Amino acid sequence: MQKKWWQEAVVYQIYCKSFNDTDGDGIGDLQGVVEKLPILKELGINCIWFNPIYKSPQVDNGYDISDYYDIDPAYGTLEDFKKVLETAHSMGIKVIMDQVLNHSSDECVWFQESRKSKDNPYRNYYIWQPPKADGSEPNNWANRFRDGNGSAWQFDEATGEYYLHQYAVKMPDLNWEYEPLRQEIYKMLRWWLDLGVDGFRLDVFTRLKKPAGFPDTTVTPDVLLDRDGYILDNSMCTCLEGIHEILHDMYINVFGPYDCYTVGEGAGVTDVNAHEYISAGRQELSSVYHFMLSGRRMLTLGAERFRSVQKKWAAAMDRDLWPTQYLSNHDSARHVSCYGTDGKYRVPAAKMLATLIHTCPGTPYIYQGEEIGMVNVQFDDIADYNCCYTIGDYHNMVKSGVSPAEALKVLGPKSRDNARTPYQWDDSENAGFTTGKPWLKVNPRYTEINLEADRKSPDSIFAFYQKLIAMRQENPAILDGDLQFYLEDHPELVVYTRRCARQTLLVIANYGHNKNVLTLPASLANRKWQRILANYGGVPALERGQWLPWEAEVYELTE
Ligand code: GLC
Repeated sequence: MQKKWWQEAVVYQIYCKSFNDTDGDGIGDLQGVVEKLPILKELGINCIWFNPIYKSPQVDNGYDISDYYDIDPAYGTLEDFKKVLETAHSMGIKVIMDQVLNHSSDECVWFQESRKSKDNPYRNYYIWQPPKADGSEPNNWANRFRDGNGSAWQFDEATGEYYLHQYAVKMPDLNWEYEPLRQEIYKMLRWWLDLGVDGFRLDVFTRLKKPAGFPDTTVTPDVLLDRDGYILDNSMCTCLEGIHEILHDMYINVFGPYDCYTVGEGAGVTDVNAHEYISAGRQELSSVYHFMLSGRRMLTLGAERFRSVQKKWAAAMDRDLWPTQYLSNHDSARHVSCYGTDGKYRVPAAKMLATLIHTCPGTPYIYQGEEIGMVNVQFDDIADYNCCYTIGDYHNMVKSGVSPAEALKVLGPKSRDNARTPYQWDDSENAGFTTGKPWLKVNPRYTEINLEADRKSPDSIFAFYQKLIAMRQENPAILDGDLQFYLEDHPELVVYTRRCARQTLLVIANYGHNKNVLTLPASLANRKWQRILANYGGVPALERGQWLPWEAEVYELTE
């Protein structure tokens, strides 16, 4: 079947703040992106996803937008963005923008107006509720950023009511029940599409619908309470029934007529309910990325879970779904550190994990830096961290009696800052990221791990990603093949085929530090094969019969 452009894409995620700084202010910028586009072209990707680069007070690094029509001055101007778009397009690279539609910044003019009076035309753009009879918050929900106010509601003196903020207090939730708000958002989305962007990544889209009447969440023994007794209830606003009406309305009013890609950040979306959001017939979103394989709280992966999640999604794909494949992003730790290893076997592990992601069904995503095997960082002072989860959890732990050093030891490996340290371009000061003081400290391993070093070596992780991306164009089974696992009980060897009418590929990966011996099942053992990718080289592992730590090879079965 004819594929859509986004099904054939390899997406590269740019966290602009940490990508490349050209003006010495310690913050990456759009000129810096233009400068490095040729390298992304050399890597082979054909789509970029930008984390939010709109005007923002940066309470949550841009996920708090104060002007949806402008670029944050730290990154440049709208003209700079147009330059990025034009240059990327001229190289055959599409550009998708992050869109934050669950909340805005409290500095957004809509909220500035909304809070002025109850009869302000913008009042209902946000969610306002009167206090309970005793003056307390409208319900018992906690906000998701626990570093300040525990409640998800903030009292506003001017009108004597509370507004809802599922995230930081400076990030009020938008009211999707209010038609003028919807039309305002639709106008803005069309404006970006008309400017030439090729689609959107929709931030926390499963939380747009809130429960009618904002009831208290029932306190049961297994609900999580925050330090002030508010309830951290993930389900309070996640995947509620009415979300589909909102997404379909958005599709009809915005996405439908454009050849755009809409990928949702799908907390709560699984292989079981994904078809409700992304089957073409539903007219909602193109695709979704889920949290079954990786995520901020998942610090291990391993052969077994990898197999089981991929199997579930492959079965769901039979129902006309197209998932995404990724192992990390700006919200997680560096995947080579947590799902692989950043010690002696860092290089083969990074390549092995990439092989898995790039040969399973769906659109692969590369988060900046993974193509050179960037690793986690451990700071020994909380002042060096920026992530609000890390800082909030740290204060909670220290308040409960844990020593600062111990708290950092526990929180460091899962901090989002692991993924946000500046890109390591070379071994010069600040890894070539900036001539100024970087907004977040550079990972000290930059002298060993950097792009310049990788580009010099044909055996580098960067070179391996180039091969993987090229392989996608040359091997139809990667796009069209079904997925079949073998040796499913093996604790470390991951073995699968991708088979379509024109081709069968066999992927074998050793997930771990141990050497493993492999006996192929009879149905595969008698086939002729040709190796098309290897992360060690030398004699093919299939011939040796033994798999080295983190070894991965891909074969084409020829007869
Ligand atoms: C999403 C973003 C994350 C942000 C949150 C609130 O999960 O990926 O970075 O903090 O939404 O907007």
